[in-house]
Amino acid sequence: MGQAIQLIGKKVTKSIEAEVGKSILDLAIKHDVDWGFSCTRGTCARCRCSIETGTEFLEPPTDAERNRLDDEEIEEGYRLGCQAIIREVGAITAKNKTYF
Ligand code: FES
Repeated sequence: MGQAIQLIGKKVTKSIEAEVGKSILDLAIKHDVDWGFSCTRGTCARCRCSIETGTEFLEPPTDAERNRLDDEEIEEGYRLGCQAIIREVGAITAKNKTYF
């Protein structure tokens, strides 16, 4: 039993196994969680999510996230799911929160 990642989509919530090197969005797609996305390159922000626990298990924000998100959003724990890569196995809770 590994440390689970909880993905909270718009209607679907799933607890899944962490996979180092995958993004939050990769895992949401793989496990059929209804997560917003379009570009997968860090520009559309449809995959925006708040990391409610376990930020320390993710790689730090990428340049794309720093360009697309406000500093305050990053401080509040918002990430772009397509850019937020699992760094280490651990309990993470991520909730998809698009702007619209
Ligand atoms: S899918 Fe477009 S920013 Fe992540």
